[in-house]
Amino acid sequence: MNAPNRRAFLRSSAAALFAGSAASASDTPDVAPDPRRLVEVAPPPRAVEVLPTNLKHQDTLFLTWSQDPTTTITAQWVGAPAGAPTTARVSATNTKDDWVAANVVQKPFGNTVMKVHRAEFTGLKPGTEYLLKIGTDPQVCRFRTMPAKATNTFTWVSGGDCGTGPHAVGTNQIAAKQEPYFALIGGDLGYDNGTSAKTALQFLQNYSKHMIDPKGRLIPMVTCLGNHEVKGGYKGKRADATYYLPLFDGLYKDTTYGALDFGDYLSLVLLDSGHVSPIGGAQTDWLDKALAARVDRQHLIVANHVPAYPSYRAPGTIIPKEVDPVLALMGLKGKALGTGEENRKYWCPLFERYAVDAVLEHHDHTFKRTHPLKGGHVDKYGVPYLGDGSWGQLRAPNAPEKLAYLAKVAKAYHMTVHKLEGDTRYHVAVEENGRIADVYASTGKRPSKRG
Ligand SMILES: [Fe+2]
Repeated sequence: MNAPNRRAFLRSSAAALFAGSAASASDTPDVAPDPRRLVEVAPPPRAVEVLPTNLKHQDTLFLTWSQDPTTTITAQWVGAPAGAPTTARVSATNTKDDWVAANVVQKPFGNTVMKVHRAEFTGLKPGTEYLLKIGTDPQVCRFRTMPAKATNTFTWVSGGDCGTGPHAVGTNQIAAKQEPYFALIGGDLGYDNGTSAKTALQFLQNYSKHMIDPKGRLIPMVTCLGNHEVKGGYKGKRADATYYLPLFDGLYKDTTYGALDFGDYLSLVLLDSGHVSPIGGAQTDWLDKALAARVDRQHLIVANHVPAYPSYRAPGTIIPKEVDPVLALMGLKGKALGTGEENRKYWCPLFERYAVDAVLEHHDHTFKRTHPLKGGHVDKYGVPYLGDGSWGQLRAPNAPEKLAYLAKVAKAYHMTVHKLEGDTRYHVAVEENGRIADVYASTGKRPSKRG
């Protein structure tokens, strides 16, 4: 990225995009290692829940995708089965002959009497604004299909670890102001833990209410699985993702990982960091093939929940570069303990081989950006890891002086605004109050070709 363009981008971003007040400089307290960081504490048992009985479809309505977002859209909501709308319609022009109808399919919503209601539309026009009507409801919603090509700038947002509290709502609101084409939530959505339908519903109610852009368009949601969607957090079964998979099994039909291809210019590769699918084995085999098939994509982005390079938890041993050859002789190269160990063992070598443009990871409840990394070491041709899951949850990160792979950290609620502009990617971390925490950019089809 050349200097004039970068300055122009920063000026326009600060002036036009990120409304909010200035805040204090980065807050990077020096936290002593804490062995408790290695332990995932199980949530306490919950009392029997009383679910809302008066939900209308508008209260939890959201959009998502299971197929190419340039030509499809899926509308979903959760509600009672009886008397629910049975059709939904979309129109690009609002003329009498232009409305296209789809049947609404009902499916179970966990162990509740409520149902997930789903209507999928295909064959839509790319880069087009549509109207959406549910049943006979006179209310008309708006949405956009994704552009056919990445010729113009477009914006999307990402983050993780939301919850249902006031900070999650605040980040929803600043995210929606950016007019993103979609939001990618990288796990730990509402913190339902596979046991609380009420929490899962509250997350959807918040999303439905606040994730509408200033022009009144619904912002589609793409997700990957986190520990707080699954009973027990790790090594669960599909049924343990009690309220997550009923909502997102359009994309995750048979596995809890998958890829979403936006035309031929953007691919999101969405992984399960050990909550239902083990990291190694079949998922890694699939990842190898999925990345190989997408290596020529203009923008190739991976998202997973538990980070390979954590900012709060202990990563275990990252082997110093000069020691690698010695350990290799001893058959111990790459041996490490701690958070992200299996990511680093099985996935990071593939990210590096196929030159993934960025990995979005979360779970640690801070803002973090790593240096571009190869084998855990700073390398300008390596892969950057962005996160670290503070949409609505917060902890104090370790300082970059303690973990050499970290480039920048902050104790700040945040989400990241991604602007794709031809071959250039801008990743702008925006705090809940609108302050820009970080701007990172890369240009070129593959990092190996960047200078
Ligand atoms: Fe998590």
